[in-house]
Amino acid sequence: MAKIEESGSLKNIIAHSKEYGFIFPSSEIYDGLSATYDYGQYGVELKNNIKQYWWKAMVQMNENIVGIDAAIFMHPTTWKASGHVDAFNDPLIDNKDSKKRYRADNLIEDYVAKIEGKIKKEVDKAAKRFGDSFDEEQFLSTNPRVLQNQEKIDTINARFKKAMDEEDFADMKALIEELGIADPVSGSKNWTDVRQFNLMFSTELGSLAEGANKIYLRPETAQGIFVNYLNVQKTGRMRIPFGIAQIGKAFRNEIIARQFIFRMREFEQMEMQFFVKPGEELEWYEKWKQTRIKWHKALGLGEENYRFHDHLNLAHYANAACDIEFDFPMGFKELEGIHSRTDFDLKAHEEHSGKKLQFFDPVEEKSYVPYVVETSIGLDRMFLAILSSCYKEEKLEDGSERTVLQLPPALAPVKVAVLPLVNKDGLPEKAREIMDEVKLEFNAQFDAKDAIGKRYRRQDAIGTPYCVTIDHQTLEDNTVTIRERDSMAQSRVTVDELIKTLSDSVSMTKLLKQLS
Ligand code: GAP
Repeated sequence: MAKIEESGSLKNIIAHSKEYGFIFPSSEIYDGLSATYDYGQYGVELKNNIKQYWWKAMVQMNENIVGIDAAIFMHPTTWKASGHVDAFNDPLIDNKDSKKRYRADNLIEDYVAKIEGKIKKEVDKAAKRFGDSFDEEQFLSTNPRVLQNQEKIDTINARFKKAMDEEDFADMKALIEELGIADPVSGSKNWTDVRQFNLMFSTELGSLAEGANKIYLRPETAQGIFVNYLNVQKTGRMRIPFGIAQIGKAFRNEIIARQFIFRMREFEQMEMQFFVKPGEELEWYEKWKQTRIKWHKALGLGEENYRFHDHLNLAHYANAACDIEFDFPMGFKELEGIHSRTDFDLKAHEEHSGKKLQFFDPVEEKSYVPYVVETSIGLDRMFLAILSSCYKEEKLEDGSERTVLQLPPALAPVKVAVLPLVNKDGLPEKAREIMDEVKLEFNAQFDAKDAIGKRYRRQDAIGTPYCVTIDHQTLEDNTVTIRERDSMAQSRVTVDELIKTLSDSVSMTKLLKQLS
């Protein structure tokens, strides 16, 4: 059946996630808690499959990378050493009329993005006008309107960077006022001063009677790896270069958490710190960039959906950094960060703890603090990238419509649905027999309710790659039909061949083989 595909907007994806048990607003019966979400019955399966894909690719397929699972609570000095107590801040501004709160840097960035949009419009218009003979580079460097707008962007960016670097919040406010930036909700330009806001959540350890200590919910999983560097290196007899990986929750009191699960206050990270010999870090940084983009592209979500964004303004401890950006429904945004973090973290923990965090190189017969290349991806952002690129609304040849999640089969929450064609004539009993075998191998679902077409649509909507239908012929010759989700094509196989046929298509191994 022919199809016209349309990808979904963020609004449709949010509604679909809720309707089909992927993601619910947290504590919804109390009207929810802002920027906090719960993963439902299919969401948790998809999330676990993404974790498995990452863990297998990063830990189990690399002999020199091991995993840990550190506690969320850490000694408070950890966050002093890492710089989070003093510098994990965002500049905050309130609108006095609307009482809405914003990140001052975001207001300025959004303003710059609008000017960039104007340049893009000029380029698109000219490309249409000149056709094949259009030279974009030449146009960008000669068109007076483009040059004027580019100069405006450069001037704003230079002043903004200076204000950020020098924490000159008075000038940041002055810039917002001079640019005439208005509250996007109310249109008011009546702003408070800009002030720093630390993003770490704190709580207290122990009862007040004992003299409670202020501790933090970790804002990144990475520090749990750094403080365990020596434990793992010694007990695992690891030799440089080697990596430590971890998947776990992180918490940030984001001033504005928005765009569904893109920016949340409680989220999950998959991070890996790769410890290398000083001087070799940039070579490893390049290698990890290539390894990580390959991991993403193997999923088949569309190569055009990814791009690297190299950081021009590096944090003081980094000597190279980039983001892998993904084309989300709201445009290209950061999905994963790859950072060459030098020896900043281990050295800071050495200083604050008084413990040596070094590696003795037996060849050179000397000890050194290793350099670190980090890969850090948000699990929830990865979930959104997958969901948004796989969500398709299709019009079929017969005029009907369907919503289908074209998930990579290895990640699909349910791999196979077992469906008796009718709920009588011994078909449900035969289908149960097949289900009992299939469920030992894959996450499978038995469904005998409603017409077969309706059941196919339900499975399409949750991304089940295969539906197995048991009909009257099954009772005669022990064959079943397999319906493939994307093409909707059906083929007949014997029950004996069924598991092998499905395994070949849905196994994680097939995906992982593309990486080696
Ligand atoms: N250890 C390095 C680190 O934490 P980061 O760029 O702050 O670096 C890494 O975060 C990744 O974590 C991001 O690329 C993003 O995918 C994810 N992430 C960060 N903040 C997030 C939030 N508020 N909600 C969801 N994911 C977030």
